Amino acid sequence: MAILPKQVKIVEVGPRDGLQNEKESVPAAVKTALVNRLSGAGFRNIEAAAFVSPRWVPQMATSADVMAAIDRRPGTIYSALTPNMQGFDAALAARADEVVIFGSASEAFSQKNINCSIAESIARFDSVAQAARQHGLRLRGSISCAFGCPYQGEVSPESVADVVRRMRDLGCDEIDIADTIGVATARQTQTVMERAAREFSIDALAGHFHDTYGQALANIYASLEVGISIYHSSVAGLGGCPYAKGATGNIATEDVLYMMEGLGIETGIDLDIVVDAGQFISQFLGRKSASRAGNALAAKRAPPQ
Ligand code: HMG
Ligand code: MG
Repeated sequence: MAILPKQVKIVEVGPRDGLQNEKESVPAAVKTALVNRLSGAGFRNIEAAAFVSPRWVPQMATSADVMAAIDRRPGTIYSALTPNMQGFDAALAARADEVVIFGSASEAFSQKNINCSIAESIARFDSVAQAARQHGLRLRGSISCAFGCPYQGEVSPESVADVVRRMRDLGCDEIDIADTIGVATARQTQTVMERAAREFSIDALAGHFHDTYGQALANIYASLEVGISIYHSSVAGLGGCPYAKGATGNIATEDVLYMMEGLGIETGIDLDIVVDAGQFISQFLGRKSASRAGNALAAKRAPPQ
């Protein structure tokens, strides 16, 4: 049996990847309360904002308000998506600790999501990377459609490796391998992760799995087996990408934490508080949480009827 990492970093992406796809505007005060509950649970890294065009993603238009209102927990990294210098300037003003440049392993998705080719995106990211370095901010690179694309279908591990290389050369501290539409399966996940790890330190590669086909937890386990120790997840399984039709949310954080606890892998996060945060945001949105573990744990707590 493969030796699994003893501890992992869980990056909570619910406030950004989770909420970006909600049709009804979620007030900044609710987002702020969610981020504060999550930092209270012990996350070392929360993706809290996206400084993108409000015409493209209206839900993220209040990102500066959220960043201004949250209680900053010392040691927690608050990340923001920054597709270009306009986004970077806004993230800097909002005191983001980490900026995220987001590209794609698929040409077709790059055009739909950020309105340019992969090569053009890397050129744009270069100025963001330089500015991040100059201002001492962490830089993360996110690679969408690393396992399949809603527009072009198959994506080869070589095209993922190519973007990993380019993001490494830009100076990224961490690189996310993202299954935007949740189509990956376990063996494929290992193949792509192992290929990416030939280009970039395995300790700084992250798995970002959406759960559209119900494979995300299996893909995380498969990634643990090949040594990946950073995972993204979304409280209550919120989310989806507005430019990936039909794609559901990220794997639910509660489910990931429950699995890690069972495996004896340290996360430093209090699952009970995350369950509360999941119930809080689900109640606000007026629907049941998409986290199986979250709902089971919440039901167990409720007094018998
Ligand atoms: P564009 O239209 O090519 O940009 O969009 P432009 O430079 O030509 O500017 C057009 C207008 O946008 C201008 O306004 C700019 O000021 C404004 P106007 O003069 O027309 O009034 N603009 C901005 N406004 C605010 N913030 C900015 C900004 N930049 C330009 N940063 C652009 C290009 C990249 C801006 C656009 O395509 C965009 O915002 N895309 C964002 C898409 C997005 O956020 N997608 C979801 C996040 S990615 C994701 O979820 C995947 C991930 O989770 C991993 C995975 O699962 O795969 C990370
Ligand atoms: Mg995503």
